[in-house]
Amino acid sequence: MTTPTHFDAAARDWDQRPMSQQLAAVPPRMLALAPFAATDHVLDFGAGTGLLATAIAPQVARVTALDSSAGMLQVLQEKGFANITPLQQDIFAGLPAQYRAIVSCMAMHHVADIAALMRAFAAALHPGGRIALVDLYAEDGSFHGDNAAKGVQHLGFAPAALQQHAEQAGLHNVAFTEILQIQHPNGRAYPLFLMTGRKP
Ligand SMILES: C[S@@+](CC[C@H](N)C(=O)[O-])C[C@H]1O[C@@H](n2cnc3c(N)ncnc32)[C@H](O)[C@@H]1O
Repeated sequence: MTTPTHFDAAARDWDQRPMSQQLAAVPPRMLALAPFAATDHVLDFGAGTGLLATAIAPQVARVTALDSSAGMLQVLQEKGFANITPLQQDIFAGLPAQYRAIVSCMAMHHVADIAALMRAFAAALHPGGRIALVDLYAEDGSFHGDNAAKGVQHLGFAPAALQQHAEQAGLHNVAFTEILQIQHPNGRAYPLFLMTGRKP
């Protein structure tokens, strides 16, 4: 469907990366801060090998794991979750359903047009639906190092700018909290935010 990406090449070993092992702290913290209902259908944007999707699936009716990387979704499918539906497509290709919640971890910084992303999220939520999005606070480019090779479009985010895009897309109650600090091999710590909000 699409040209193999950096993520297709990285998929098989993704979960063994020290970074993924630190990110494993994110799903339980997200579930504590932004709990889901048992009837929810949740969209995981940039689901990868399922860091969030596999943690959320036991709590909800269904998770759609959207990712443009066939390799990442292949690793996720091998985990055998009956209520996770893989969806290999770009986020801007049009979504097949509406969701009670949209979650994401470390995928937004790969999307150039964040205003359009927030509009796509808002359009894909049922009224009352919620976002729970995790990514890097603004950093100096040292987190990924080889930013171009990894398809990095944003060196993290300033909450005020993200909040403006979300509110312009029609989302309310937008709030940020620090959810984790990544201890990087370069010796520095990089904080991650959880951005929450809802569609009225
Ligand atoms: C850094 S990985 C994060 C994967 C997973 N959420 C995790 O935390 O381990 C970012 C993922 O977003 C996906 N992605 C990036 N841009 C995308 C887009 N426009 N549409 C769909 N998926 C995208 C990539 O293929 C990749 O699997």
